Amino acid sequence: MNLKLLFFCLFLAVLLIPAELKRKKKKHDHHADELRGHGHHNRDKKRGRFEDIINDIFFTITDGAGDNDDDDDDESNSDWLFELQEPEGHCDPNPCLHNGVCEEKEGRKRNFECDCPKPFEGKKCQRGPKACRRGRCGRGECVLISTFPYYECKCKAPFQPPHCRSYSLCEPNPCRNGGKCVNEGNDFDCQCPAGFRGRFCHVGPDDCYVGDGESYRGTVSETDDDHECLYWNSHFILEKGVDPFNSFEDKDGLGPHNFCRNPDGESMPWCFYRKGPSLLWDTCNVTECPVPTGETPTGIVPTDIAPTDIAPADIAPTVIVPAVIVPAVIVPAVIVPTIIVPTDTAPQPETPPIVPVNPEDPTQAPKTSPTPTKETFVPTATPGPQQFATCGEAQPKKKITRIFGGLKVSPGAVPWQVSLQVKPKNSNQRFTHTCGGVLIESCWVLTAGHCIQPMKNMQVVLGSLSLNDVEPTEQVIKVQEAILHENYRETSQAVYNDIALLRLEGTDGVCANESQFVKTACLPDAQLPDGMECKISGWGATEESLTGSNHLLEANVMLINQEKCAEPDIYGRVLDNTMFCAGHLMGGVDSCQGDSGGPLTCEQNTNSVVYGLVSWGDKCGRKNKPGVYTRVTHFLDWIRSKTQAVSA
Ligand code: ARG
Repeated sequence: MNLKLLFFCLFLAVLLIPAELKRKKKKHDHHADELRGHGHHNRDKKRGRFEDIINDIFFTITDGAGDNDDDDDDESNSDWLFELQEPEGHCDPNPCLHNGVCEEKEGRKRNFECDCPKPFEGKKCQRGPKACRRGRCGRGECVLISTFPYYECKCKAPFQPPHCRSYSLCEPNPCRNGGKCVNEGNDFDCQCPAGFRGRFCHVGPDDCYVGDGESYRGTVSETDDDHECLYWNSHFILEKGVDPFNSFEDKDGLGPHNFCRNPDGESMPWCFYRKGPSLLWDTCNVTECPVPTGETPTGIVPTDIAPTDIAPADIAPTVIVPAVIVPAVIVPAVIVPTIIVPTDTAPQPETPPIVPVNPEDPTQAPKTSPTPTKETFVPTATPGPQQFATCGEAQPKKKITRIFGGLKVSPGAVPWQVSLQVKPKNSNQRFTHTCGGVLIESCWVLTAGHCIQPMKNMQVVLGSLSLNDVEPTEQVIKVQEAILHENYRETSQAVYNDIALLRLEGTDGVCANESQFVKTACLPDAQLPDGMECKISGWGATEESLTGSNHLLEANVMLINQEKCAEPDIYGRVLDNTMFCAGHLMGGVDSCQGDSGGPLTCEQNTNSVVYGLVSWGDKCGRKNKPGVYTRVTHFLDWIRSKTQAVSA
């Protein structure tokens, strides 16, 4: 096991550090591009586009596609899962997605029926429009609209509507703003008049963004690396489990177009793009507005074209997609099935260090005075002087969705999330993130037992989202004592009683200070029903990065029936009542290496309770191998006995 671990770490160091550096370098190049200025036709960038489109397997033309709607193989596949994961089947809580109306039905196998708003279908309205089946749009991207037939094709130039199967080079002229179309072999090139740029000369001279680009309403639709942006209402984005219209705080700039925007507090406008079958995002090739001295820049809506004009021959939809989303079950992973993890089903007792954290040991974060809040839920731990005023109340949500179903957590949305960090005892080395944890009291953090490393110094970081940056919201506190559960036991198959408490350093029972970004989670006081949707979060491995994510990610998982999870083809009899499974049996969304000890929280009476701690799983995101979580309700007495013994 340890050899494997060592190998794993080496692998990460060799493969992934260069990848991280590359991303940083790319950012740098982006700025270099900006300095070089614009206004020319981007000959270099456009080369090979036609070939790229032709060779893109995504556009493989399927004959006959698009003619009938009966073939719904993929969609019906997910129904069994919904039944499996929600054996109860009543209307409270409403099992119907997408605002479907639930009706109780007596004496049926399923005790409810959903009346689904168009175009959703399925037992729980989980199926999105079928309109965008593969091949339907030829060499074009399919976007969703809210009126019949619920889709439109956005052809990749020079392919022509309506079917995007034939192409025509400069006829009609795809170049805007007086751009001259030049035939270049199989492709075309727009020679733009001075001041205009973009593939179709559609970006005007005043097209620029101010600040972080939140107000940007320009028409740049290409990333830094010249990838063409996807439409925000693209079916492909939804298919990957991301719903821009539902997930971002600032949806105003989004619409049925493919212009770069910043709806989620990124540092500048960005967009989604597709690379083969993968959904990716990147910041855009946009220009920052010059700030004239003494004036406040306002940002623009430039050029002579309407935003939807960008693919000139396409007809822009007039309606914004409704709150469309794709069935939760086909949401791909926060985490990746491809991760290299130990081949046995056992967790790693020591998670490899993930991302180096704060360059200097940051000192205590600014002290914030506790904010008084309403009392709606009685925390199950006895309140004492060191208690926070509330538990389980996150900041109002500003959810940020990105690729792989992993949602970037917004400030204050998971205020009980802890990064547990270690360094060799008494060394000068930096602390590195090793596990997650959950703040349950000012001086107490819950984590997984297997996260405790006796030979290490430990600290916790609270109120943090980005591990690489020192954030003003964070509080860094030393761990005074780690209390591992007396019956903690690890076999090659599973980890039992995988729980530990960390007592933080502080004075007079005050360690962490309550703030908008640092709050406690409540302890649960009841078993919650199978099929309930709960939330996991962490900085662990993702499909993109085996080293873990720099930004805290969250995802939704369902509580899985214990008997089901103990079936031989899932985890069999190694599962006991100190643990439970959550996730999606079809695979996909899951926690992974580096998330251990972190929270699985569920809503109980409108407050978040820490129902589970990330513990183990057979690799990550695999079919029939959901994540296994420490069952916190099993340890309530243990938690109380430890925390009260000290605070009393
Ligand atoms: N043991 C891992 C850690 O230390 C967590 C693994 C969770 N695995 C899963 N498939 N959910 O971070």
